[in-house]
Amino acid sequence: MEFLLDTANIDEIKKYKEIVPLAGVTSNPSIIKKEGKIDFFSHMRQIREVIGRHRTLHVQVTAGDATGMIHDAETIREKVDSDVFIKVPVSEEGLKAINILKSKGVNVTATAIYTKFQAYLAIAAGADYIAPYYNRMENLNIDSKQVITEIAAAISRNNSQSKIVAASFKNVAQVNTAFEAGAQAVTISADILDQAFAMPSIEKAMADFTTDWESVYGTGQTINQL
Ligand code: G3P
Repeated sequence: MEFLLDTANIDEIKKYKEIVPLAGVTSNPSIIKKEGKIDFFSHMRQIREVIGRHRTLHVQVTAGDATGMIHDAETIREKVDSDVFIKVPVSEEGLKAINILKSKGVNVTATAIYTKFQAYLAIAAGADYIAPYYNRMENLNIDSKQVITEIAAAISRNNSQSKIVAASFKNVAQVNTAFEAGAQAVTISADILDQAFAMPSIEKAMADFTTDWESVYGTGQTINQL
């Protein structure tokens, strides 16, 4: 079970790296846009420094054709590092690029997946991670849970090493469902984690425990002070 952060914000990564058992960080050009006109490669290197080599870093190509994507991948690997998972949207050109990148042993995350068929092709091409877009599929009236269930079944039937990293979430329920449908990993924004811990019941339970404890041992007394 892997939790990744879908952000390029260094403060969010630093914060949540201490809270969740963080498996990695993903981004795409729309996520990068939120950070303004950053020095892209130095920013990505900084993220790597924060998360370390033992966590996965997924960086997306921006070219629209296979040759350009391969070029982007080479540049990313040269200017960030060779462990980076190169995110490639599964279009016709993207799939062509994925085949080439995998034949060269490059780590690949196949992204922008809206259909089972895209996923099956990416699995057959040997992509390491397959990223179905949960909320975007729902918006198109596609059954996201069913899609993930089928992709997971295909991975297992074929003894494939590909992992599903479900993406595009708007709430915690979608994340739970993605895992339950067979996703090995999810990539989520900090908002989703904020939502998860924003339940007033959690705060209330903690406040009640403190009140009960202090009513016996005195205000401000902790276990350490006994
Ligand atoms: O990782 C893909 C994801 O960032 C897309 O999410 O919120 O733009 O649908 P969203």
